[in-house]
Amino acid sequence: MEKISVMISEEDVDKRIREIGEEITKKYQGKEVLLICVLRGGSFFMCELAKRINLDVKIDFMSVSSYGGGTESSGHIKIIKDLEESVEGRNVIVVEDIIDSGRTLSHLMNLLKTRQPASLALCALLDKPDRRVVRVDVDYTGFKIPDYFVVGYGLDYDQKYRNLPFIGKVEIDNTVLK
Ligand code: IMP
Ligand code: MG
Repeated sequence: MEKISVMISEEDVDKRIREIGEEITKKYQGKEVLLICVLRGGSFFMCELAKRINLDVKIDFMSVSSYGGGTESSGHIKIIKDLEESVEGRNVIVVEDIIDSGRTLSHLMNLLKTRQPASLALCALLDKPDRRVVRVDVDYTGFKIPDYFVVGYGLDYDQKYRNLPFIGKVEIDNTVLK
């Protein structure tokens, strides 16, 4: 059975989300933004972030998957659920839980670009730069973290722990999972 230890506290996560919300509010002053939540991991972060943006905010959801299970993502993505609305001419901000290899998001950002939004930005709660395989430009990052497998705030291990209000490390038999 795995054990979870706190890596980033609930208080620190909430504080950082407020800051990002303020930054986005300033940057997009007078405009409407469309937040695109990447399911399922991005959902908790997007809800909190949306509440901290003082502009007209609309939301939409997309679900993509990299093939295979485990803790490693493969090179391909499959669209499981596409957006309900067109992004053409909109100010789009993609909201994701974590950028790891970068494969998922580089595919997704390229796809969205072809749909001609007025602007396209990427906002990730967590970033593991050491794991990057494909270049992705992240416009707003909550926290840069070392190469640990993390859970909470939308992130899962075997579909569990998404509901933890903090970011935690996973330990199995006294070994931290990477
Ligand atoms: P990437 O394509 O390698 O950047 O994979 C990103 C996706 O892998 C994220 O959206 C998560 O769903 C998952 N992922 C990567 N690292 C972690 C982690 O530490 N904990 C939980 N999920 C992770
Ligand atoms: Mg994800």
